[in-house]
Amino acid sequence: MRIGLTYDLKERVPEPQGRPEDALEEYDSMETVEAIAKAIEGRGHAAVRLGGGRDFLNRILAEKVDLVFNIAEGLGNFRSREAQVPSVLEMLGVPYSGSDPLCLALTLEKPLAKRLVSFAGVATPKWMVIRDAAQLAEADWGVFPLPAFAKPAHEGSSKGIRVTSRLKSTPQIVEAVKGLLEHYRQPVMVEEFIDGDEVTVGLVGNSPPRVVGIMRVLPRRKTDHFVYSLEVKRDWESLLTYECPAQLATGVLQDIVDYSLRAFEALGCRDFARMDFRISPDGIPYFLEVNPLPGLNPKSGDLPIMARKVGWTYEDLISAVLDAALQRLGAKAQDSHRIQ
Ligand SMILES: Nc1ncnc2c1ncn2[C@@H]1O[C@H](COP(=O)(O)OP(=O)(O)OP(=O)(O)O)[C@@H](O)[C@H]1O
Ligand SMILES: [Mg+2]
Repeated sequence: MRIGLTYDLKERVPEPQGRPEDALEEYDSMETVEAIAKAIEGRGHAAVRLGGGRDFLNRILAEKVDLVFNIAEGLGNFRSREAQVPSVLEMLGVPYSGSDPLCLALTLEKPLAKRLVSFAGVATPKWMVIRDAAQLAEADWGVFPLPAFAKPAHEGSSKGIRVTSRLKSTPQIVEAVKGLLEHYRQPVMVEEFIDGDEVTVGLVGNSPPRVVGIMRVLPRRKTDHFVYSLEVKRDWESLLTYECPAQLATGVLQDIVDYSLRAFEALGCRDFARMDFRISPDGIPYFLEVNPLPGLNPKSGDLPIMARKVGWTYEDLISAVLDAALQRLGAKAQDSHRIQ
């Protein structure tokens, strides 16, 4: 097969004027693209580099591909940016791996995703959304549980998330929200801070997906209130220990699996995803967010690290995602054939 690769490289995305220094944090490196291409070629396919943005638009019209392996984050500050590339592919009738535009858009919008997963019976920290300065001025924090945690409503890669995002008082909340509104130019979500273990879950496949692993992220130096912040993600090799399988009580692990599968289903994820949870001291896993386009950097991506820890090679991981997509598409083709 000829498999197209869609991706947005850090160096190809224009540096946004006056934006925070972490504005391009989510975008990929050539190292990731080459690793995926190598894995795809290792399966006997041709890897066609389509890129993102206008490069992608030009190349997808010029190249004939049988399937696209999509990791494109999309451009701009839009909450639906991750839906851009899959939307074009659907318009052109080109099949692709991973989740569809609706899922990618609603999962990037964290408050919307939380509403859906809580409706499906998954615990998620209490939250409040502040859209602008006027709403901030009117907000009543009197009943909001403290400490709280503030983050941009539609970002990833811990953009806008620092150790200082944990907030102990109303004035601290107000100041943090003000700063985030100004710098990230999008709504801000204030959440109840869950003081406990940090866990990320890898899922690959469909109906139901397979849990690749449950990985606990631990600080190397003991800290009172660990946050998997931007600073920590950038310096992960010296600051973190990744424990997979996570050494947690069996009941907690079962709840994490149950919640992950429910959230995957409720949000309509496809082929693969990574979900983040925090576990409260009384053992309840709280859903933080899902990444239907989890980072795939072969060295630093959480999902590739997890895969390695459970004995998969990077090629195994990419193959599993590809197979999930092919199986899903094959199944669909058979279904529609049957209906006709
Ligand atoms: N309510 C919360 N309570 C405690 N810690 C939190 C909470 N929300 C976020 N965090 C901390 O901040 C980190 C980043 O938050 P989150 O996963 O929502 O952001 P992200 O930028 O989408 O992450 P990713 O890099 O996985 O895309 C979490 O992994 C966790 O350590
Ligand atoms: Mg996260």
